[in-house]
Parts: sequence; C-alpha cells; structure tokens
Amino acid sequence: MAIPKAKQYILDFEQMGFGMFIHWGLYSQLGRGEWILNVGKLDKTEYEKLSDTFTAEDFDAEKIVLTAKSAGCRYITLTTRHHEGFSLYDTCGLSDYDAPHSAAHRDLIREFVDACNKHGIVPFFYHTTLDWHEKTFDTDFDAYLEYLRKSVETLCKNYGKIGGLWFDGNWSKPDADWKESELYATIRKYQPEAMIINNTGLGARGELGNPEIDSVTFEQGRPTPMNREGMSKYVAAEMCHTLNNHWGIGNEDLDYKSPGELIKSLCDCRKVGANYLLNIGPEAQGAINPFQKELLGIIGRWMNIFGEAVYNGRPCGIGGVGSNFGLRSTDGKYIYLFVYDLGSIGDKNVTVGGKYSGAYSFGGVTDKIASIEWMDMEGNLEFTQYGTTLSVELTGHPYGKSYPVRVARATVG
Ligand code: GLC
Repeated sequence: MAIPKAKQYILDFEQMGFGMFIHWGLYSQLGRGEWILNVGKLDKTEYEKLSDTFTAEDFDAEKIVLTAKSAGCRYITLTTRHHEGFSLYDTCGLSDYDAPHSAAHRDLIREFVDACNKHGIVPFFYHTTLDWHEKTFDTDFDAYLEYLRKSVETLCKNYGKIGGLWFDGNWSKPDADWKESELYATIRKYQPEAMIINNTGLGARGELGNPEIDSVTFEQGRPTPMNREGMSKYVAAEMCHTLNNHWGIGNEDLDYKSPGELIKSLCDCRKVGANYLLNIGPEAQGAINPFQKELLGIIGRWMNIFGEAVYNGRPCGIGGVGSNFGLRSTDGKYIYLFVYDLGSIGDKNVTVGGKYSGAYSFGGVTDKIASIEWMDMEGNLEFTQYGTTLSVELTGHPYGKSYPVRVARATVG
C-alpha cells in the first residue's frame, strides 16, 4: 500500500522540528499548575477574581520569542485559552472573561503574534475545548459549541496568518458530538494552511481523531514510528513535554528534567520523524522563570552545533547499537549519525564512564558514504561499509566536552 503524498504545510511543520509550548493564564498567579481550580476544588467565584489582579506587567512577548529562538525552537504554541476559560485574546464581545477586561487591559495574543512575526517564529494557538467557566458547557452543549466556534473564528480572523491550532479537551466528554467538522471548516475558511491538531490525551497517544487533523499528538510519552501506509492523508506527529511535572508553573515543583534528558527526548522524537514541543510555564505576571530560561539556553547551545541534523534529518531505517540511529537529510546529501552517551575521554583518575574511541555499527545504510565527521569538530572519521552495514571508528569527546547526544555527519557520494 502506498504512503499518501504530504501537503506542503505539513512538511513545513515537520521541518520546524522543535517548538516551545507555553502554559500561562490566571492560574499562573497561584503557582500550583493549570489544573488547580479543578484538582484543588477551589471556589469558582473567588478564582475568577484572579482576573482583577492579572496585570501581565512582566509579560514581554519579544523576550519570550527571543528565548525560544535562541533555544532553537521554530514555533511557539501558546495557551490562548486553557480549561479555566479565561482568554488571553480579545474575544470581541464573546466573553468578559478575557485579557482586555482583566487588570492587564491588553490583547496579549496580539503582542505575542507581533513578536513572533518580527523574529521569524511561527505562532500556534493552543485552545481548550473543555471549559470550567462557561456555564453552557454543562447546561446547553450546542450553545457552548457555537461559543467555541466563534471564539476560534475570532482567533483565525484577527491575527493574520498563523501556523496552526492546537485543541485540547475533547477527551473530557468522550461520547459527546463535538461537531468537529464545523469547527475545522471555520478554520479552513480563514486559515487554509493552518495545522489542525487536537490532543488525544494521555490515554490515546498517536490516535487520529478526525480526517481533518494534520498531526497526531503524543502527550508526555515517546512517540512511536508512524505507519502511514494506506492512510487517506499524510499526517505529522508531535510529542509534548514539560520541564518538570506541571504545564502551568508549579512553584513547588522542583522535579526538573536535566538538559541531557531533554536533548535526548528531542532526538528520540526526531528518530521517528516527530516534532518535540517543550513547555515552559511563565510566572504570575508573565516573566520567564530564570531556571527554565537557563535550561532552554543549554538546549540552544547544543542546537547551535547539531540543529541542522534535527531540522533536516528524516527517518530512513538506519539503526545503531542502543539508542543510536541515523537520519537522512531531506536533500539526500547527508546521513546524520546520532550517538548517545559517548562520555568524555580523560584519564582514568578523572573521568568516569567515558567510552573510548572504537567501532560503532549502523545498519540499514543504503547510501554510499564518501566521508564522515563530527559536527562539533573538524577531522574525518575512519569507516568501512559492508552491504548495508556502516562501521565507523568514533572518537570519544575530547576532555573538556561532553554532549548527551553527539552527531556525526556523513556525506553521501
Ligand atoms: C492535558 C491537560 C492540560 C495540558 C495538556 C498539554 O491535556 O489537560 O492541562 O494543557 O495536557 O498537553
């Protein structure tokens, strides 16, 4: 069976590879995650007063966009409205529970989109479909769906071209008729090339909910290879991940992942051709948390060296020992060999666990290789090819360097 031909905007999405997710809303003022209203059983009327103290005085869209850009992200998916029901955009009269009616008195999505456009980052809109504020969600579902559709229409009409919409919440009423086709038709009318994504949640990773969907999601889990044979259309894949265990900021969530772990997760995604959407939770009034910024900065330093392999590499059936694997560049000129945990070479009295230079095998290499070198330093590596097996004499990191994943670039020819 054939693999369907991909639409260009879906290929462009895959080429972006790495995105920043941002969860920010009224809940950020409480610093206990974006679900605190529900999980903490808070009083709704009291909670909604958070709109009166939401000044957004530290929200500097340009700073956020530049932080994403220097981490190597090519797009940002921001919560325009999360389950709490509060909109960061001007709902143009659909609801008073929005940023222009809050203490901020600004359209924060306008600022976000302008900053993205200024710096060449593609804006994506996260939008909840489940709503804890809007009463019709429980009392008159059809009326609610129309409110949701008009909200999305507002987003599609008022902010110029956007990269896509990222919905979340259909899993809250699995048996309801969400009238998805009507919602997606509204998007296609104004944004024909927007990616339409609808999170299938923790329980149904990688599933395709509706034929209009352009990418499946893998929430907090490793994406599995996509089998596109016989599909009616080519869809992308994306995994989303948080830096710790909450999406909206958790002031007492100290369980941060390490930069090495995050870089490996990014590579694990690219191994199967999926994008990696990595979340930050800005602080109460929109400032970026300094530690989160540092973490992203380290990823950015790695991306500065190896980013080409992340953006341009596509799965081509090359496997290595352990987690190692290979990708082929979209133009077919290079094979990128991803090597995990190489350690660094020092002296037995100072370095623990560093692997020394040696032969590493990769299977499934059908191209004839002309030369191979590390992307972080010059100098050709020795190699041999037998059939589809490539055996490379990989040198360890010189003392003073250690990358969680190191990539060698082989030139085809
Ligand atoms: C979940 C949660 C939500 C978060 C999302 C991110 O579906 O409900 O809070 O926004 O995952 O993937």
